[in-house]
Amino acid sequence: MIKFDLKNLHKIPSAQKPLIKKFLKKIAEKKQGFSEILNDKKTLYQINSFAKKIEGKFSYIVVLGIGGSALGTICLQQSLKHLFGNELKNLKTPKLYVIDNIDPILIKELEDIIDYKKTLFIVISKSGETIETLSQYSHFRKNCENKKLDIKKHFVFVTDAKNGELRKIADKEKITSFRIPGNVSGRFSVLTAVGLLPARLIGIKIEKLLAGAKKMRKKFLSDSIKENQPFVLASIQFLLKKTMTVLMPYSQKLIKFTDWHRQLLAESIGKKFNNNGKIVNTGITPINALGVTDQHSQLQLYNEGPNDKLIIFIEIEKHEKNIFGKLLKIEKNATEQSLAKNNRPNITISINSLTEETLGELLMLFMCETAFLGEFFEINAFDQPGVELSKKLIDRNFAKQNTLSTKI
Ligand code: PA5
Repeated sequence: MIKFDLKNLHKIPSAQKPLIKKFLKKIAEKKQGFSEILNDKKTLYQINSFAKKIEGKFSYIVVLGIGGSALGTICLQQSLKHLFGNELKNLKTPKLYVIDNIDPILIKELEDIIDYKKTLFIVISKSGETIETLSQYSHFRKNCENKKLDIKKHFVFVTDAKNGELRKIADKEKITSFRIPGNVSGRFSVLTAVGLLPARLIGIKIEKLLAGAKKMRKKFLSDSIKENQPFVLASIQFLLKKTMTVLMPYSQKLIKFTDWHRQLLAESIGKKFNNNGKIVNTGITPINALGVTDQHSQLQLYNEGPNDKLIIFIEIEKHEKNIFGKLLKIEKNATEQSLAKNNRPNITISINSLTEETLGELLMLFMCETAFLGEFFEINAFDQPGVELSKKLIDRNFAKQNTLSTKI
C-alpha cells in the first residue's frame, strides 16, 4: 500500500474536489489505453504460453528498443531482480540486456559477451519505424543470418497491432509478435507486452505487477479526494508552481524507476501548445536523484539554490534491521528536515516493501498522475510532437540504406 506524507509542504495546496470528476471525464474522452490494458488477458496468456515454450532454451535475452520501449523494462529488472543478477553464478533465468542506444561501443561490447546461438532478441517499437531500433534489428539479424541461425527462433517483436514496418515484417515472415494497443504511447506502455514480456522471461511475477496497478487504478477512478492519490499528487505538483520535480528514492533498486519517470514527466507535460492551440510552452523539468548518494552531490543545490523544485522522496519502510537500514532511515529524515528548514517543499511516498505489487502501484500512480497533470495544464499529455519532429529530421537516405525498412 502506498502512503503519502505531506507534512513538509508548509502550505498544502487545496485540491479542488469537483475537478476530479471533470478531469476523469476529459481523460476518458481522450480514449487512452494505459489503464484498460491491465485487463488484457489475451496478451497475458500469450506471454505466459511463449515463456513456457522457450523455457531453458536461451541464456541471453537482448531487448532492442529505445525510450518508452526500453525504460520500463530496465526499471522492472533493476527494481525486482538481484542488483547484480547477470553476475549471479546460480542464475536460473536468462541474462537480460536492454540495448537502448546505438553507440557502436555498446553494441560491440554486448557482442563480446553474448552467444548468438543462445540469444533471443526482442525487438520493441510502438511505431515499428524508429531508426535506432530498426538499425539494431538489421545489424543483429544480419549477424544471425551469417551464422545460419533461424530468424523465427531468435527474434520476436513487440509492436503496434496494425501499423509500422515491424508489423509488416512479422506478418510477412510469420515472426512471433506481441501487440501494443494503438492507444498506448511508449511512456505509458510498461504494463503492456513491452515490459511484461521481458519481465516474465526473467522470472518477474507479472500477474502481481498488474494486480498492484489495478489497485491504483481503482484509486484513480475514485472521485474521493482521500482515495485519489494520483489526483492529490498532480494537484500538489501543479499548484505549487515549481518548475522542477526531483524524484529521490532512498532505494538503490529504484534509481531506474526515476529514469522511467523522467521520460514520463518530460514528454507528457513539456508541450508547446495547449488544448486550444495557444502557444504555452509548459513543462516541469524532471530531475533524478538517489538517497543517500545524492545528499553528497545535489542536496546543497536543493537546500540553498533557487527555490524552484518540489522534492518527492520514495521510501521503503521495511529495511534490513542492520546498521545500513537504520542509517538510511536516519539520513532520509535528516535530509527532509534540512529541506523543510530551508522552506523547500518536499513530500514522501512510502511503500512497505518493494515487491511486484507495490511497484505496479507506483508505476500506475505516476501514469495516472501524469494524466491529471495534463488536465491541470490543459495540454495533451499523450502525444510527443517534439520527439516525432526530430525523428523526421534524421537523414532518410542513410536510414533506408542501413535498416531493413523500405518505408523510412
Ligand atoms: O514515448 C514515446 O512515444 C517515445 O519516447 C518513444 O517511446 C520512443 O521514441 C521510441 O518509439 P517507438 O516505440 O515507436 O520505437
